[in-house]
Amino acid sequence: MASPTAAVRTKRRADDEHPSGDPRFALIDRTLKRFQYQQDALIEVLHTAQEAFGFLSDDLLIYVAHQLKLPLSWVYGVATFYHFFTLKPQGQHNCIVCMGTACYVKRAAEIVAALQKEYGVAPGETTRDGLLSLATARCLGSCGLAPVLVLDGEVLPRETPEGTLARVKQQVG
Ligand code: FES
Repeated sequence: MASPTAAVRTKRRADDEHPSGDPRFALIDRTLKRFQYQQDALIEVLHTAQEAFGFLSDDLLIYVAHQLKLPLSWVYGVATFYHFFTLKPQGQHNCIVCMGTACYVKRAAEIVAALQKEYGVAPGETTRDGLLSLATARCLGSCGLAPVLVLDGEVLPRETPEGTLARVKQQVG
């Protein structure tokens, strides 16, 4: 028969391990431990979760809320408030079209519409095959180069709907 101490140890190990068996949860657990499960560490923990999984799924938000003993509504509120968190899976390629005033008056909306039509994806969404995520921004800080977009991290100035489509097709297919 196992000693009481061994039983406690076994129980703790089982408690520590996420039921899914997904090792990425260990990364989140490490951050939780580093911050001693303090509720103030919520943003740090969400950052780790997003880095490990690519986006914050409902399951992750529930897990973090449970571990930090915070209401789920609070965790969800923080995750949706900060633009650097995303609650949806991201595509292999990423296109952010600036829709700020300077870009808007230079046909940025037409660029978005062209991408939307070609790939069947609305801003804030990812194509079904997971190849392209489309997003819009309020101002990318390069108004002199309007209309501007960022494709896979590269800033592209003075874009046109036709030029953008050609460029995205080249990159995404
Ligand atoms: S409005 Fe597009 S970069 Fe400023």
